[in-house]
Amino acid sequence: MIEIRRANPADWEEIWPILHAVVASGDTYAYPPEIDKEEAFVAWYGPKSIVYVSLLEGIIVGTYILRPNMPGQGSHVANASFMVHPQWQGRGLGKAMGLHALEEAKKADYKAMQFNLVVSTNKEAMALWKNLGFSIVGTLPKSFRHQKLGLVDAFIMHRFLH
Ligand SMILES: CC(C)(COP(=O)(O)OP(=O)(O)OC[C@H]1O[C@@H](n2cnc3c(N)ncnc32)[C@H](O)[C@@H]1OP(=O)(O)O)[C@@H](O)C(=O)NCCC(=O)NCCS
Repeated sequence: MIEIRRANPADWEEIWPILHAVVASGDTYAYPPEIDKEEAFVAWYGPKSIVYVSLLEGIIVGTYILRPNMPGQGSHVANASFMVHPQWQGRGLGKAMGLHALEEAKKADYKAMQFNLVVSTNKEAMALWKNLGFSIVGTLPKSFRHQKLGLVDAFIMHRFLH
């Protein structure tokens, strides 16, 4: 029932409402909650990013990007960001995209995957990434300005791929 495929530029019209809804709550991503459509496009369709969409019964309800975490000598480590539209969270899309991203990263010969800013209060994401084999390798004290909770810690999470 869940389909995941690479996005094309035309999919942006359906990705934008997802990104807009997720970012507006100011509790999971370090994008400005009031981000506009053009800024969001530049952030999501970065030059090194591969954009994916997940569909439920043909409708785009989630998206993720896969890219090198660093240029040059750090480019063997992948980075990824995931968003599911709030109305469709908790139905397995995040897990399906996480597993898909790990496979895509292996195919692209990345050696590891790293998330640079997992907000410590984001229980859903923390549980998901731990279930998929990621460990916390660092704590960034008070590095995220949560819209409701103020300054909270964030984690760097990492796993090898092979
Ligand atoms: C995090 C996110 C991508 C997960 O996607 P999702 O489709 O909601 O998650 P799934 O339904 O696939 O659930 C996957 C796992 O997440 C965890 N999870 C999901 N909902 C949860 C909840 N309400 N409480 C605790 N854990 C939860 C569970 O470990 C679950 O695995 P299980 O079903 O095997 O127990 C999604 O909630 C989202 O887009 N959140 C906002 C943006 C974000 O936080 N992105 C990640 C930043 S690091």
